[in-house]
Amino acid sequence: MNRSFSVFTVERTLPWHWYSAESVLRLEQERIFRRAWQYVGHLGQVAEPGSFFASRAGDVPVVVTRATDGELRAFLNVCRHRGSVVAEGDGRRESLQCPYHAWTYGLDGALRSAPRSDEVVREGVSLLPLAVESWGPFVFVRPTAEGESLRDTLGELWDALPVDGVAFHHRVEYAVEANWKIACENFLECYHCAVAHPGFSKVIDVSRDAYGLEEHRWHSSQYAPRRGEDAQGQFHFVWPNLKLNVYPGRPNLSIGPLWPDGPTRSRGFLDYFFAEGEDEAWIADLLELDDQVGHEDSALVARVQQGVSSGLLAEGRLLGESERLIAHFDRLIVEALSD
Ligand code: FES
Ligand SMILES: [Fe+2]
Repeated sequence: MNRSFSVFTVERTLPWHWYSAESVLRLEQERIFRRAWQYVGHLGQVAEPGSFFASRAGDVPVVVTRATDGELRAFLNVCRHRGSVVAEGDGRRESLQCPYHAWTYGLDGALRSAPRSDEVVREGVSLLPLAVESWGPFVFVRPTAEGESLRDTLGELWDALPVDGVAFHHRVEYAVEANWKIACENFLECYHCAVAHPGFSKVIDVSRDAYGLEEHRWHSSQYAPRRGEDAQGQFHFVWPNLKLNVYPGRPNLSIGPLWPDGPTRSRGFLDYFFAEGEDEAWIADLLELDDQVGHEDSALVARVQQGVSSGLLAEGRLLGESERLIAHFDRLIVEALSD
């Protein structure tokens, strides 16, 4: 790791109008979210043959199924009739029925039946299959057919699944009043931690010398030692929108995506995993700290959104060392959009 701070370079942020322009968001949906592997849920949601869950990849509705043949599949969750979203939530079912005119698809995607079937040509009609792969208990979907494997995308992270043997505990959904890139960039530096997260900084050593930053082709990692103990937190970010958090201490992990919800809002969720039968009081303590950090971050990114939307400044600055994971993310944005 480059630990020489003798030369402090300052880089530029992305152009600030990229954080509120509709045209940029349209390009991001097309060139980033349609093309990248994205976390959509976990294997526990489709453990049994005859189960499914609905999710999304960017603005693309997705349904993941396990049919009676046991195979894991993913489809565009869009009816081939007139385009309604088909499945909602998750559960055990033999088939998925569109709520609009009741076209019914098998969990293998094939159209099985439709009312007034003498008028419907069923042959060859199927939900559109999407690429699906799993990493440990985590399910990823990529809307476009072509692209590298999930394993190649995750690189070094693939073999270093941060926590083994944990079980799904619960999911938290959230929304923030900021462009999705502002929320990602906020996740990618801890320069703000000492200032804005006093509770977190009491537990974690956020000083520049202790807090490790690593960038890779498609992901970056932050290693955060616990004060006074030989334990380390890990905060990974996988392009384009995945957060993976491991707090120091007992086995724990949270993972989830963040999507644009219009140019100046984002939504996401985090799936929390703990050791089976973990002490609920210990979990509650961890969640309290995590929740506090989350609230602090929501306020920070909303303020940034207001600031960068003012229209009078073209861009800002990035610290050469402490914010180099943002520079890495921003380079990937530029690379994807100029493709
Ligand atoms: S849109 Fe799905 S059945 Fe008509
Ligand atoms: Fe933060």
